[in-house]
Amino acid sequence: MPGETILIIGACGQIGAELTMFLRHQYGGSNIIAADIKAPGGELLESGPFEEINVLDQAGIAGIIDKYKVTQIYNMAAMLSATGERFPHKAWELNMEGLINTLELAREKNIRKMYWPSSIAAFGPTTPKVDTPQITIMEPNTIYGISKQAGERWCEWYHQKFGLDVRSLRYPGIISYKTQPGGGTTDYAVDIYFKAKAQGAYTCFLAHDMMLPMMYMPDAIRATVELMEASADKISVRSSYNLAAMSFNPAMVGESIRKYMPDFKLDYEIDFRQKIAETWPGSIDDHQARQDWGWKHAYDLDAMTKDMLDHV
Ligand SMILES: NC(=O)c1ccc[n+]([C@@H]2O[C@H](COP(=O)([O-])OP(=O)(O)OC[C@H]3O[C@@H](n4cnc5c(N)ncnc54)[C@H](O)[C@@H]3O)[C@@H](O)[C@H]2O)c1
Repeated sequence: MPGETILIIGACGQIGAELTMFLRHQYGGSNIIAADIKAPGGELLESGPFEEINVLDQAGIAGIIDKYKVTQIYNMAAMLSATGERFPHKAWELNMEGLINTLELAREKNIRKMYWPSSIAAFGPTTPKVDTPQITIMEPNTIYGISKQAGERWCEWYHQKFGLDVRSLRYPGIISYKTQPGGGTTDYAVDIYFKAKAQGAYTCFLAHDMMLPMMYMPDAIRATVELMEASADKISVRSSYNLAAMSFNPAMVGESIRKYMPDFKLDYEIDFRQKIAETWPGSIDDHQARQDWGWKHAYDLDAMTKDMLDHV
């Protein structure tokens, strides 16, 4: 979209790094301002502007918005599920105050559009687990999940109260090879490919039959950009859209890897992350996203496995 200047906070993370590079290729490097609490290296630093900033520093972000005449904000900074259970108060502060800071700045500075991701963690143990509907019971019992559910409510409130054009997706577990995952419960589905290539074996921290909704990074990036580029009258959900591509368990990933590496060995040492995973849905009904703005995933498990093994 010509004339847009996009600020991405949390640009060095697993999703932020690939999103930043995708948008830079699309809109030109100088129009995409990467920002993070830590400085990146490599192409992220060389391909466009970078600002070192804490998402909790509202005045600092205001300065960046003014400096670059920012028209859109993507807030990708968060503490993820597994780390959040270890540092609950810090997770709450980062995830909630960080979101509210950017919502408030978006309102004050007349930002045209804002993006903030929610997660399947916003659901909880009482949510229907199969084909989880868009609107359903949500009683999350991790701090991360509670922060995502509350964040969804804040987004909808800013839209209803101030007409802020804020958009959101409930990402499933995201699998990628370019940047290491950031302390989530679905990290096994990334590590397994790295260990398969390096050692021919992997010890998994989730049970063999723990079904979870997942998505390959190229689909997640495309979904994010397609949602943000859809015309506002197509967006009927202002909390956060259900989004899906595939559902699998660790045993199924093992089988998929064995199609390319027949000697791959998979065993299990289950830890506290299993308890978190058990509270999340196994599959997601995302018909609203498909109907409203034409969402369509491209990668299934085997297509993703082939691509991961080719690249890690
Ligand atoms: N990766 C997944 O599987 C997944 C699934 C569902 C939702 N999400 C959501 O997507 C978003 C991005 O996730 P990710 O996997 O890329 O996370 P990540 O942990 O890999 O990246 C987060 C980034 O935010 C930065 N950050 C942390 N604290 C900050 C602060 N105070 N100020 C500025 N930057 C700060 C970190 O340095 C990091 O680069 C998060 O909101 C996350 O909850 C991710």
